[in-house]
Amino acid sequence: MTDAQPKNLFGLSEQDKVSLLAKLRRNQGDAQTRERVDLAEIPDKFVRFEELPGYKQLRIQHAVAQQTGILNPFFACHDGIAKQTTSIGGTPYLNFSTYDYLDLNGHPEIMRAATEAMHQYGTSASASRLVSGERPPHRALETALAELYGAENCLAFVSGHATNVSTIAQLFGRKDVIFHDSLSHNSIVQGGLSSGAKRFSFPHNDMTALEEMLRAHRGEYQRALIVTEGLFSMDGHIADLPALITLKKRHKCFLMVDEAHSLGVLGQTGRGVAEHFGMDPSEVDIWMGTLSKTLCGCGGFIAGSAVLIEYLKFTAPGFVYSVGMSPPLAAASRTALDIMLREPWRVRKQQAISRFFVDQARARGLDTGGADGYAVVPIHLGGSLLAGVLATALFNRRINVLPITYPVVEEGAARLRFFLSAAHDEATALQALDAVAEELPKARERTESIIH
Ligand SMILES: Cc1ncc(COP(=O)(O)O)c(C=O)c1O
Repeated sequence: MTDAQPKNLFGLSEQDKVSLLAKLRRNQGDAQTRERVDLAEIPDKFVRFEELPGYKQLRIQHAVAQQTGILNPFFACHDGIAKQTTSIGGTPYLNFSTYDYLDLNGHPEIMRAATEAMHQYGTSASASRLVSGERPPHRALETALAELYGAENCLAFVSGHATNVSTIAQLFGRKDVIFHDSLSHNSIVQGGLSSGAKRFSFPHNDMTALEEMLRAHRGEYQRALIVTEGLFSMDGHIADLPALITLKKRHKCFLMVDEAHSLGVLGQTGRGVAEHFGMDPSEVDIWMGTLSKTLCGCGGFIAGSAVLIEYLKFTAPGFVYSVGMSPPLAAASRTALDIMLREPWRVRKQQAISRFFVDQARARGLDTGGADGYAVVPIHLGGSLLAGVLATALFNRRINVLPITYPVVEEGAARLRFFLSAAHDEATALQALDAVAEELPKARERTESIIH
């Protein structure tokens, strides 16, 4: 068969090409008309941040706080290093809002290590370590952390939050299942959501309920993760590591433990929840921790098998597509870790003052919600308004302790959260607790009068 008409580039005859172009023009016209109609139907509120429901809620909260004389305790600007005392706007306060559990922030040795690293490598790693390469402080920090957990290797990320999100989302997918404690940190929950895996939240520290869930659901999925915190950040409860290890073995799961608040806090030498229970840390598959608390820096880490770290190092989005840790910060955290191991008295001091604080709080009839007496001690109050009123009263007495309110915790579970560190002494603890005991009845009355 001969081809009478010449073919164009797409192999169409001239006639077919004319007909196709006419059809495309018609379709385009239809699409434009449709677009005009559709766009007219989109209300203006969808292009205004002021109309975000969450923003409106925030404005209401701020307005209520302003009208009732509750100070906004968030984002206070401190004038120097926040220790047992801190200066805010030139005024000194007793301070119970620092993660610096071993009183290391500003330690001369840490400052020297950070300064030396800064002179040698500058302040920035300049790009992802994958492309801009590493600096010796990165590997030195990771080697020290791997050793701490008896792990084959370790990887440091620039954010603790991103460490959890990236690691969980990278390791698990739609055919997998994640069992997490109901009080898990937001970063664990976000990691689970991003992974696409099926998620089950087990009642806080309830190993019987977890086992029931595992029996009912583990078998339906491929890989399974149990994830928890060594020491819970809002409640100061310790996870039942021995039971978790038994369950993860029995039900063929990976176990991940977030040590954000247990490193430097639990165990005789601050090695965390495994040391607390005298367990072999290699029983845990994924150790996660942050550098922002005891280690006085910024970032997070994963410690585990060589294979796990190799995989994350080449694939975890929060590592591969994010800048490497600033070398001075890596040097600072590494030095803080050295001091922690060299000076276990800091750990003991932090543990003793935490125990003292929790005992004294209970002696005053304050509700510490079963806190185990390690660094994080909540005073449970119930409503968010009461927590705000009490925190304001304490701030007016020069005591800086932050209220934890909805949505960080469930409504009705608001509290003041005290952080204790090796910097605190008994006199300061008693002064704060006496102030809480005195102010609480007044704050209750005030809250009642605001509501009714
Ligand atoms: C349990 C827990 N995991 C992870 C994070 C995130 O760590 P970072 O603040 O260092 O990003 C936090 C933060 O406080 C935390 O409490």
